[in-house]
Amino acid sequence: MVLDLEEPYRYIRKLRDDDLASLLEWDEDNEITQLSGKKFERTNSLHVAWWHDLMSSPARLGFAIQTEDGQLIGDIELEHITWRNGEAELRVSIGDKRYWNRGYGSGAIREVLEVAYVHYGLNRIYLRVNRDNYRAIRVYEKVGFRKVAMLSATGHLTGRTSLILMESRAYQYAELKA
Ligand SMILES: CC(C)(COP(=O)(O)OP(=O)(O)OC[C@H]1O[C@@H](n2cnc3c(N)ncnc32)[C@H](O)[C@@H]1OP(=O)(O)O)[C@@H](O)C(=O)NCCC(=O)NCCS
Repeated sequence: MVLDLEEPYRYIRKLRDDDLASLLEWDEDNEITQLSGKKFERTNSLHVAWWHDLMSSPARLGFAIQTEDGQLIGDIELEHITWRNGEAELRVSIGDKRYWNRGYGSGAIREVLEVAYVHYGLNRIYLRVNRDNYRAIRVYEKVGFRKVAMLSATGHLTGRTSLILMESRAYQYAELKA
């Protein structure tokens, strides 16, 4: 799903068709894909399928991460949303590296947590992060995520890295905001 944000958000906006070209370009950057995983396979049809699924699936909610003037610098998504349990997995990536370490990631995650907990009534957001992705771990802790488990990577990452499972809960988010 792509949400038409009614309220003015500072760091996130609706994803548009013309954003896909930049997402594709960043998906070819090894430094980024080592940190956040690869979104698309290399054939055209698969990124088109990815986009259609994002637009239509009730289990996905994606946003652009933007600068002050609406320029796309990355994307952030709630995926594997299970509405009955009120849970979703968070994935975030700033593809334009000039904007790393400038507060955009923390800002975008905070706004997505607001959408998830306040607008959609979800109760738990979790994520998986490489054990040595210190910047991302710092950001997640800053916005209220806690480490809950160590995981072994599977698939093409088997044996190459370990992942940390982190989670945030709606009541903790409300306490942080108060
Ligand atoms: C991870 C990511 C979303 C963070 O967004 P960002 O806008 O760069 O982060 P912010 O500017 O909001 O915050 C960065 C924080 O990390 C800290 N930091 C930066 N490098 C660090 C390091 N090597 N070790 C520890 N902390 C570090 C900064 O000091 C800052 O914390 P502070 O505000 O307390 O000073 C973004 O950098 C990114 O997309 N990276 C590439 C893909 C990725 O790693 N995605 C996450 C996959 S799980």
